[in-house]
Amino acid sequence: MDGNTFPKGFLWGAATSSHQVEGDNDANDWADWETAGRAKERSGMACDHWRRFREDFDLARSLGHNAHRFSIEWSRIEPQEGQFNEAALLHYCEVVDALRERNLEPVVTLHHFTLPRWVAREGGWISSRFVQYFLRYADRVAEYLSDKVRYWVTVNEPMVALYQGYIQGIWPPGEKSFGKALEMFRNVVRVHTELYHMLHNRRRNCWVGMAKHVRAFFPYRSFWPFDHLSAGLRQFFFSDLMTHILTTGVAFFPGLENSFLRRAKGTTDFIGVNYYTREFVKFALTFPFGGEKEKSFSGETGERNSLGWEIYPEGLYRALVDLRKFSLPIIILENGLCTLEDPRRIVFIQSHLGAVARAMKAGADIRGYFYWSLVDNFEWLDGFEPRFGLVEMDYKTQARRPRPSAEYYAGICRTGKIT
Ligand code: FCB
Repeated sequence: MDGNTFPKGFLWGAATSSHQVEGDNDANDWADWETAGRAKERSGMACDHWRRFREDFDLARSLGHNAHRFSIEWSRIEPQEGQFNEAALLHYCEVVDALRERNLEPVVTLHHFTLPRWVAREGGWISSRFVQYFLRYADRVAEYLSDKVRYWVTVNEPMVALYQGYIQGIWPPGEKSFGKALEMFRNVVRVHTELYHMLHNRRRNCWVGMAKHVRAFFPYRSFWPFDHLSAGLRQFFFSDLMTHILTTGVAFFPGLENSFLRRAKGTTDFIGVNYYTREFVKFALTFPFGGEKEKSFSGETGERNSLGWEIYPEGLYRALVDLRKFSLPIIILENGLCTLEDPRRIVFIQSHLGAVARAMKAGADIRGYFYWSLVDNFEWLDGFEPRFGLVEMDYKTQARRPRPSAEYYAGICRTGKIT
């Protein structure tokens, strides 16, 4: 990589997920969660992307993208156990064709947080038949799409779904059970491994990966004796060793994720990275069951997005450089900012792509970058308020308007150079 110039063939695009943009998804566990009043508002028509996908892909194309990441909604494909909806399968074929017609490489996620209601009622991720159900659905999707799709993401951020759904209990299914969390973990590994083989049997040269939510973890404060150590040693103690010793709760999860990646070697073609922020952690006997992650740091913390997540591009650099140890290609599948002040998004994109460029120079094998998100959309518990889009949504009229940051990003996508 030369200066800040990205190589030819680098995938440039934006990402979305079915429940967040399609609208009218009422047969899944998130719809029930919303109905139960457990999210700020209901997803409702969202961005009506189910009907307006061509318009959205025209925008992506006009904004210089050459790829697009989206997810398939299982509850539309199989609304009832074993009953497959041919029209929905054909719809996703049209979606992929529409991308191809615009020279946008499709990157398809099979599970992005939502489960069909019937699967959730049968126990969801920890049902003894979950792996079988998931494979049957995915196999049907692959039957229709595998000759059109090269890049597959099996599961989006399984550890986030596990943590919010089975430890904190704030997402479906609302459990607080370490045992069940571990059962889900086992099924994530099984599902991913089986899908890898199934997708490769259908198309040998496809690329199968998982989207891993990566956070930079820091202990919430430093200890004075270490202040006298050299910067390198301090980095080792504070960021790595101390974090791991001090944070039995939070650090346990990245540990598990790394162990997952180690186990997944041989059944993953690339590592998908979703990066947003860093997190400060402290040891608390009650954590993770009722304890709290420490959000404030005794030192200074940087600017935050409208959800309060700190903006920390250095964390992306560190994560990417750290992932070199797996010797696998990396695709950044999500990275973005929610803000009402669009100029901040430009700075965000510039600084994070700068971190990506530096990591590439340091030897990380990065093949693509997907900004989250193409359009403003339904941000789970937080509803429609957070604005992540390159394109602004007017939810009343469904009008789309590209923001100046979309034009800025378009310049990078077209030239491969950070300006
Ligand atoms: C990620 C999710 C994505 C979106 C962004 C803001 O964790 O994968 O659906 O909500 O956060």
